[in-house]
Amino acid sequence: MVRTQRHSFRLSVKTMRPRHATTADLLDVEALLRSCSLPVGGIRNKAVQFHVSRDRTGLLACAGIEMFGGSIGLLRGVAVEQRARRAGLAALLVSALVADVRLRGIDALVVGTKAAAGYFSRLGFTLADPAAIPLELLASREFAHSVISETTLLKAEL
Ligand SMILES: CC(C)(COP(=O)(O)OP(=O)(O)OC[C@H]1O[C@@H](n2cnc3c(N)ncnc32)[C@H](O)[C@@H]1OP(=O)(O)O)[C@@H](O)C(=O)NCCC(=O)NCCS
Repeated sequence: MVRTQRHSFRLSVKTMRPRHATTADLLDVEALLRSCSLPVGGIRNKAVQFHVSRDRTGLLACAGIEMFGGSIGLLRGVAVEQRARRAGLAALLVSALVADVRLRGIDALVVGTKAAAGYFSRLGFTLADPAAIPLELLASREFAHSVISETTLLKAEL
């Protein structure tokens, strides 16, 4: 077992191990994202591929990637249940996802956020120039209900 230094939430090594989401995970992913007021468009039709962590009681965390056929991907739906926060789960899921997409030829990730720019900066993302982001990426359903100028766009070279 791993005990986080700051929290009493206990994570077994097996629990923390991220895995690819299956169809059976998607309703739980959607519910977690809704509970965090994050967009869910494109999830049921599998336009977004997720990594998840679960324990016996259910989904703990998820992080997804939407790809656009080139070498750039959109990081979406990074969310952790309240009871599992500040245990490193989001960072673990994002690094698993990065390792996976690198093998698939993706060499840059973009993330759009209203409230968590500071979090993604800590993971190595830097502010992106919206004019330099491919238009098809900005047309993602991730941004369907957002005013793009009110969204902070960050980018990481992998
Ligand atoms: C942001 C989020 C995914 C982080 O998950 P997590 O597993 O708790 O993150 P980690 O354990 O890897 O990192 C925790 C650290 O990030 C910090 N952090 C959490 N949310 C943050 C935010 N919005 N801005 C800046 N820092 C943040 C925590 O304070 C903590 O800092 P500490 O290490 O100094 O105590 C989680 O808080 C969450 O689900 N938030 C709601 C959904 C969301 O905003 N997702 C991002 C947009 S896609």
